[in-house]
Amino acid sequence: RDSLNIRLAVIPGDGIGREVVAEGLKVLDAVGLKLETTTYDLGAARYNATGETLPDETLAELRGFDAILLGAVGDPSVPPGVLERELLLKLRFELDHYVNLRPVKLFPGVETPLAAARPEDIDMIVVREGTEGPYAGAGGIMRRGTAQEIATQESLNTAYGVERVVRYAFDKAVARPRKKLTLVHKTNVLTYAGDLWSRVVERVSAEYPEVTTDYCHMDAASMFFVTQPQRFDVVVTDNLFGDILTDLGAAIAGGIGLAASGNVNPSPKGSESWAPSMFEPVHGSAPDIAGQGKADPTATILSVAMLLDHLGLTEEAARVEQAVADDLIGRQTAWAQRSTREIGDDITARVTG
Ligand code: NAI
Ligand code: MG
Repeated sequence: RDSLNIRLAVIPGDGIGREVVAEGLKVLDAVGLKLETTTYDLGAARYNATGETLPDETLAELRGFDAILLGAVGDPSVPPGVLERELLLKLRFELDHYVNLRPVKLFPGVETPLAAARPEDIDMIVVREGTEGPYAGAGGIMRRGTAQEIATQESLNTAYGVERVVRYAFDKAVARPRKKLTLVHKTNVLTYAGDLWSRVVERVSAEYPEVTTDYCHMDAASMFFVTQPQRFDVVVTDNLFGDILTDLGAAIAGGIGLAASGNVNPSPKGSESWAPSMFEPVHGSAPDIAGQGKADPTATILSVAMLLDHLGLTEEAARVEQAVADDLIGRQTAWAQRSTREIGDDITARVTG
């Protein structure tokens, strides 16, 4: 452990991305590992100065790190979609982040809009497919701007792509106390993609006899997230459904200031398909509060815990998560008054012990 040296690429990005990443790094430093960070100025500022989003040389460099920590990108000065597609989505596709991992966990002391929910009712992980589905970029427009315009947006689902994310989800499920996996899809209407997903889940489930397998339509799942969140342990779903469901998850588990995520490439280090995974808060750059010290850095700090866990540093990850949990309990009284930096300092102090 002492000899372990983590090489981390940091992309603070825009707006509050920079503010929250500073706090995430502070906490990471306090964990006491050997850490070597390199910061990349990707995002709106770089794009506005040079027109670059993600140059090939930078992408090649990023491949050499153990992991990436990202704040958020996006600014009103950049046309919508440019940084999302050419930076964020490109990173996820190029580094083959086929798992988008989003825990939905209600910490004690955190307010939820669900009046009856207790922390033990909301504790799940959503495993969202990250490289296929309707986000694969397949489709096109004909006769644009005319009355005869045609737009198609196809959902690509490969047996290979579905199986690898489903396997990952089963591995997660078998390691959790409840050992339950729920496929969320819309198999009754999206019959082709749904058929593939169902068959893959069914087939892989035979290798995990300890795991209970369940199925839920996407529309019903969005209802159950609100009425019976305790139904869910590990949820596996496609790219689009996962995107929507995890925002709902964030809402029931304390809001956007707490929602963490990982864009994960689970391939074993050293294998040909390995690439660094990227951890980031679910929220964006929040131009409305940027530069005011109002952003909650907790989502980023929880993303740092996920990063540590991904690197196999489970004890360090647990320490960071516990520090956050302890801080959250104290917030019932002190919440509104603290700045981004103060929250970061307080959690750092708890990690240091
Ligand atoms: P947003 O998540 O930036 O903000 C939504 C609302 O939540 C705002 O009112 C904001 O003040 C609040 N909020 C967000 N994070 C917060 C935090 N940590 N603490 C306290 N309040 C917080 O989403 P929005 O406004 O739709 O997008 C703003 C920009 O961010 C856009 O350019 C968008 O494209 C980009 N974006 C980038 C993402 C990324 O880098 N992964 C993800 C989502 C949006
Ligand atoms: Mg989203």
